[in-house]
Amino acid sequence: MLRLEDVTIRFGGLTAVNRVSMEIASHEVVGLVGPNGAGKTTLFNAISGLVKPSGGQIIFDSVNVLKTSLHARARLGIGRSFQIPQPMHELTVRENLLVAQRFGTGKVVPGKVDEILDFLGLADKAGCNAATELALSELKALEVAKALAIAPKLLLLDEVLAGLETNGKRRFMQMLTALHKKFGIGILIIEHDIETISKLCSRVCVLNFGELIADGTPEQVFSDPQVIKSYTGEQHA
Ligand SMILES: Nc1ncnc2c1ncn2[C@@H]1O[C@H](COP(=O)(O)OP(=O)(O)OP(=O)(O)O)[C@@H](O)[C@H]1O
Ligand SMILES: [Mg+2]
Repeated sequence: MLRLEDVTIRFGGLTAVNRVSMEIASHEVVGLVGPNGAGKTTLFNAISGLVKPSGGQIIFDSVNVLKTSLHARARLGIGRSFQIPQPMHELTVRENLLVAQRFGTGKVVPGKVDEILDFLGLADKAGCNAATELALSELKALEVAKALAIAPKLLLLDEVLAGLETNGKRRFMQMLTALHKKFGIGILIIEHDIETISKLCSRVCVLNFGELIADGTPEQVFSDPQVIKSYTGEQHA
């Protein structure tokens, strides 16, 4: 479904992502991990269309998406959440979803929005101001809900579990698993917690200083000496 070929992203003299190649098949749940500043969010930005790579190709369902707009990528089925929740101010929770749905699908289907609100436990909050009246876990759920509203084939989730307490995290993980089963959506999720990633994902990709240093099952990846070294503070040569 998604294929990255030799993707490189530079900001001036800084190479944030360096010749990364990886594939995500339909319906796969893959973790993207790596230390702070490894290039994870930048890679999401390149896939969703916020950042233009300096080199390489990004192919989604046989379409070379580098030639297409942010908007076109959403319509192709690439949905994403943001590391820092970005509710649309002055709008209610429900209105946030309606706008996202219109953006991503070109039409408004209120019944579908209600289904998503219900699924993410936000039905009671539908009329709340999204920017001022939600707790952190609800803001995170809204991020996922907005990404779902575009009817995605692939969800890019950027640290949606970060900052949640243990029970909140467990509930959120159950919700993601259920979402994957119910809607049959592929998920690429950035998350720092190794236990969470191991429970959720069948495969894990590891970035370190912009380079893909491992790609395999959680067991393989988290026992790889190079990965362990990257997590314990390797200095870049
Ligand atoms: N728009 C930008 N302009 C310049 N440098 C940037 C920009 N966006 C990201 N960077 C740099 O690129 C590198 C990768 O950043 P990125 O946010 O992708 O890391 P990350 O893996 O998501 O880290 P974290 O786990 O802290 O979220 C960092 O050195 C960051 O400072
Ligand atoms: Mg990040």
